[in-house]
Amino acid sequence: MLSVHEITTAYQGLVAISAVSIEVAKGEIVCVAGANGAGKSTLLKSIAGAERPRSGTISFDGARIDGKPQHMITAGGIAFVPENRRLFPRLSVRDNLRLGSYLYRSEANRDEPLDLVFKLFPRLSERLEQRAETLSGGEQQMLAIGRALMTRPRLLMLDEPSQGIMPKLVDEIFQAVKRIRDTGLTVLIVEQRMAECLEIADRAYILQTGRVLMKGPAAEISTNPDVRKAYLGL
Ligand SMILES: Nc1ncnc2c1ncn2[C@@H]1O[C@H](COP(=O)(O)OP(=O)(O)OP(=O)(O)O)[C@@H](O)[C@H]1O
Ligand SMILES: [Mg+2]
Repeated sequence: MLSVHEITTAYQGLVAISAVSIEVAKGEIVCVAGANGAGKSTLLKSIAGAERPRSGTISFDGARIDGKPQHMITAGGIAFVPENRRLFPRLSVRDNLRLGSYLYRSEANRDEPLDLVFKLFPRLSERLEQRAETLSGGEQQMLAIGRALMTRPRLLMLDEPSQGIMPKLVDEIFQAVKRIRDTGLTVLIVEQRMAECLEIADRAYILQTGRVLMKGPAAEISTNPDVRKAYLGL
């Protein structure tokens, strides 16, 4: 479904990811793990059209998307929940969700994905009139994922959804990701919390200083002795 071929992305001449290739098949959960500064966010931003790779190609469902503007990539079926979530802090939960379905504003079934969002995150349905800025960190992450689902993506990309969230909610978020996949979506998730991510993922990549260090089925990566020592603290 998604094919990233040898992309290199740099910031003012400083290379952040170098010749990175990843593949995501329909219906998979793929985890990209790596330490601070490995290039995880840069990879997702490059796919989402928020950064422009200086070389390499990105294809989605067989068509090139590299170089396209971000809103066209979103409209084409890729939803991106960035690290900082980018909610509208002063707007209510309801309005943040509605902005997600803006593309469908002229359609009678504009809010169709709401059922799924409320099923996944019942606490959002209890807080519809609450301003986004007053939600807890975990609830804000749920709202950001919910808003992304309102765009009706085929591929959902999440940048460190567990960041800044209390442990109890982290598990809730990861379980929700599994349930999202079970509805037929494909998920590309970037995480520093490798152990939890490998648990829900089908396949994984490890990024190190801008390059793919290792790739394989999640079960294989999580039992690899080098990975266990270097990344899982075992
Ligand atoms: N806007 C920017 N301008 C300049 N350099 C940047 C910018 N964004 C990222 N970088 C650099 O690119 C490299 C990769 O950063 P990136 O944010 O992709 O890493 P990451 O794996 O997401 O890290 P983290 O786990 O801390 O979020 C780092 O060296 C970082 O300093
Ligand atoms: Mg990051």
